[in-house]
Amino acid sequence: MKILNWVSATLDHAVPLAALFRRAEASTPVGLDQRPESVHLRLATLGPDLARNTLVGVADDGAVAAYAEVADMGEADGVRRLRLTAVAHPELPADVRTELHRWLIERADQLRRAGGTAQAAVLGTRCAENDGAGHRLLIEDGFSLARHERDLVLAVPELPPAVEVPPGLVLESVDERYEELARLAHNEAYAESTAAVRPDQRSWPQHAITHPRFLPDLSCLLLAEVSRPDNPVAAFLFALADDDADEPIAVLHCLGTRPPWRRRGLATAMIVRALHQARSSSFRRLRLQVSDTNEPALALYRRLGFAESGRGYAVLMRQLTAD
Ligand SMILES: CC(C)(COP(=O)(O)OP(=O)(O)OC[C@H]1O[C@@H](n2cnc3c(N)ncnc32)[C@H](O)[C@@H]1OP(=O)(O)O)[C@@H](O)C(=O)NCCC(=O)NCCS
Repeated sequence: MKILNWVSATLDHAVPLAALFRRAEASTPVGLDQRPESVHLRLATLGPDLARNTLVGVADDGAVAAYAEVADMGEADGVRRLRLTAVAHPELPADVRTELHRWLIERADQLRRAGGTAQAAVLGTRCAENDGAGHRLLIEDGFSLARHERDLVLAVPELPPAVEVPPGLVLESVDERYEELARLAHNEAYAESTAAVRPDQRSWPQHAITHPRFLPDLSCLLLAEVSRPDNPVAAFLFALADDDADEPIAVLHCLGTRPPWRRRGLATAMIVRALHQARSSSFRRLRLQVSDTNEPALALYRRLGFAESGRGYAVLMRQLTAD
C-alpha cells in the first residue's frame, strides 16, 4: 500500500476516515472516534479551519489510508494550545508517518505565527502505549511525555450499593435551569487541571447536554439544598454513550466536585447512582479515562472497583516558541 494523493478533508470523508480510525485503533489505540457520525462531528467542529488544518492521504487502492489534523484548542496566558493527530494505516511504510508529522509541525507553526499576540504554542499529541516507532519519532522531534491516560472499566453489578447522599445535598437530573451554574462548577472543579478543557458559554452545551451521545438518565447534579450565596451546584457528572463499543457501555465523560465539597462522598454518590441507572437501562459496563497524574480521581475509581481496560495511551507535548 502507498499514498498516491494528498487532499484536504471535507465532511464527506467522515465515512472513510471512520474506517481508517477503526483499523488504526485495532493495533495502536489512542481513543479515536470510530463511528462515521462521531467523525463527522469531529470534522464539523474544526469549522472553517477544516480544509486548512487537515490532510488526507488516498492510497493506491482508493482507500483513505492516512490523516493529519491540527485542532486549535484556544489560547491561555498568551500560549496557543494545538492538538495534533496523525493516523496512518498499519500497512503503509514508516515514512508516511514521518511525512504526516512534518506537515503537522509546519501547519502548527503557521498557526502560531498567525496567532497575533500568541507568540508561543504548546503542541499536544496522543501516542499508543505500544507504538514504539511513533514514540521515538516524537521524542526525536523534541516532544516529551506529559502523562499517561488510563482507560478504566467497571462491570455494572446486579445489585449496586445503596446511594448515600450527604445531608444537605440533593441529587438531581441535569436540568437546563442549572446550565450556566453547572458550567461554572465544572470550570472550578477542573481549575487545577492543566489537561482539562474549560468550556466557555458557547462551547459548553456541546461539551455536555447537547452532545449527540449525552445520557440524561446517567448524568446528574448534586445541589446544596440550603440556598447559599454561592453556586448551589456542588458536584456534577455527565455521561455519554460509547458508540464505538460492540456492547452497550456508558462513559463517565466528566465528573467533578467543587473544592469546598470534596472528601464527603459526593463523587462516590454520583457514580453509584450512575450504576443504578445503568442497571435499569441496557448498560452493562461503565468506562472512563483518567490521567495517571490525577491521584484523587485514581484513588476514587480504584476504591469503586474500576480496572484498566488496556486501551490507555500516552500524551506527549512540545513547546513551539518564537524564533
Ligand atoms: C476526583 C474528585 C471528583 C473526587 O471527588 P470527591 O467528591 O471529593 O470524592 P469522594 O468524596 O467521593 O471520594 C471517595 C474516595 O476517593 C478517594 N479520594 C478522593 N479524593 C482524594 C484525594 N484528594 N486524595 C486521596 N484519595 C482521594 C478516597 O478514597 C475517598 O474516600 P475517603 O474520603 O473516605 O478517603 C474531585 O477531587 C475533583 O473534582 N477533582 C477535579 C476534577 C477531576 O479530576 N475529575 C475526574 C476526572 S477523571
